[in-house]
Amino acid sequence: MNSFELRKKYLNFFKKRKHKEIPPASLVPENDSTTLFTSSGMQPIVPYLLGNTHPQGTRLVDSQPAFRTQDIEEIGDNRHTTFFEMLGNWSLGDYYKKEQLNWLWEFLTKELGLAKDRLCVSVFEGDKDIPQDVVSYQTWLKLGIPKDHIFFYGVKKNWWSRSGIPADMPIGEIGGPDSEVFYDFGEKWNLHKKSPWKAKECHPNCDCGRFLEIGNSVFIQYKKIEQDKLEELNQKNVDFGGGLERLLAAVNDMPDVFQTDLFIPLIRQIEKITNQKYREHPKEIQIIADHLKASVFLIKEGVYPSNKLQGYVLRRLLRRAALKMHFLQENSMRSLSELVEIVTQIYQGVYDFTPSEIENIKKIIFEEISKFENTIHSGLKLIDQMQRLSGKVAFDLYQTHGFPLELTIEIASEKGEKINQEEFNREFEKHKTLSRTSSAGIFKGGLANTEDKTIKLHTATHLLQASLRQILGNHVLQKGSNITSERLRFDFSHPQKLTEEELKQVENLVNTKIAADLPVNFSEMDKKEAIKSGALANFTQKYAEKVRVYSIGDFSKEICGGPHVVHTNELGKFHITKEESAGTGIRRIYGEIIS
Ligand code: ALA
Repeated sequence: MNSFELRKKYLNFFKKRKHKEIPPASLVPENDSTTLFTSSGMQPIVPYLLGNTHPQGTRLVDSQPAFRTQDIEEIGDNRHTTFFEMLGNWSLGDYYKKEQLNWLWEFLTKELGLAKDRLCVSVFEGDKDIPQDVVSYQTWLKLGIPKDHIFFYGVKKNWWSRSGIPADMPIGEIGGPDSEVFYDFGEKWNLHKKSPWKAKECHPNCDCGRFLEIGNSVFIQYKKIEQDKLEELNQKNVDFGGGLERLLAAVNDMPDVFQTDLFIPLIRQIEKITNQKYREHPKEIQIIADHLKASVFLIKEGVYPSNKLQGYVLRRLLRRAALKMHFLQENSMRSLSELVEIVTQIYQGVYDFTPSEIENIKKIIFEEISKFENTIHSGLKLIDQMQRLSGKVAFDLYQTHGFPLELTIEIASEKGEKINQEEFNREFEKHKTLSRTSSAGIFKGGLANTEDKTIKLHTATHLLQASLRQILGNHVLQKGSNITSERLRFDFSHPQKLTEEELKQVENLVNTKIAADLPVNFSEMDKKEAIKSGALANFTQKYAEKVRVYSIGDFSKEICGGPHVVHTNELGKFHITKEESAGTGIRRIYGEIIS
């Protein structure tokens, strides 16, 4: 079975069970300053898991491209990838544990034909605060799974939230016990000689390579309300996620996701360019294939290599892949850009790339690698000559030779060196080039920020767009938006710099509408009907067939998922702090609320 068939089977299976297919969200989320990337299928669905009504109903299914920065260091085994597709289905207060586990079992064993005796499951064992998941255990037993194929684990393995175990969840975060399914490739696949489990008894949740987690049903039924307190949600939800690459590996009984049709053409081409064999250099080739594929998808979403935020992650991926190419075959790194087309061919018919997109992605990768290549020899030589790699040298390598710190650490640790990271960070601070986001934790899985101030700024963004259109003209349209609890940032189409006078007029208009205490309402309608009714849409985004339209009095009408305030006078005073260019024909405004 190939990836195309598997994806389709999954979507159809749940569609037949009254689920509505929703389009995937962007890999780079908008209006969510707490995370850089969409890292799971549930991320865009959080407001609905919390109780907002979803325009498509209470049963949803999709295939969501996802990117996990926290897995970068893990790449180089048979199962981890930074970019992957998560097949997901959700019950928003509709069906619950029994239906979910029954359907999942039917899908895995009947639709995909996985052998029952190769499957193991895990269930939450309970602790002093949260009861054991007896219903899931009983459901698995009823499905005929023998007791010795059902494993109990605690919060570390069988609890899911975007921030991990309950103790690590911030206030407001949702999560719950989960039940995972593992495919057993058999004892011979206990590949990792140095696995800590080699000496111990292997078990489904160990990482030796024999067992592969292929699906996770999370029962989102709790919200953290105080440091040590979880509260039951009124709405009990199911959040299922299964990695397409891993399911494919299980279906083909091949315990290496890099040996599936989602990677094989890429691996073959890397072998050809570097003149090396995958079986002799699996780790390096896995890293190149994964990082290049992830880069292609990130660039498609508008990310550009830089020293900040998503751009920094992209730079790290490209340069790490380039170095691995260099180690496999000198002077081969520029050929990375030749692999772009192979990635686009793998996803043809699923995620289509236009010829100009392909050219653009190739060009960006080629330029980034060329810049890096010019400095690589002197950088590597410097590392070689050093007796001790101080944080300062690591910083120089970063600044002068473009070696991200993680790369230097990786190369140095091969040499047995340790870098003083503190010292590096001090240097970095001095030069103010370090994106502060990594210390703020947003390179991690991420959270939707639903603080009051963020919601207010979101409503202010709608007022701002309507005001800009009234003052400057209807050519103004949103080109991007990013909101934190401190400020809004809004990009829009407009050919020239705004004058002081125009900025004052816009600010005053927003404040007049705030003072008018306009009601904020929403209604759900078909996408076409919404656009016909004059609701503004953001054409960089894909919408489902049914959408939510938010109106602020008669002043503003936009397709938007929310959340928003109920009345505009909740907002306080709006103030524009800065206006600048954000590219050709695009202006950017920063604004804040002074309460
Ligand atoms: N949200 C769950 C996960 O990412 C399904 O594993």
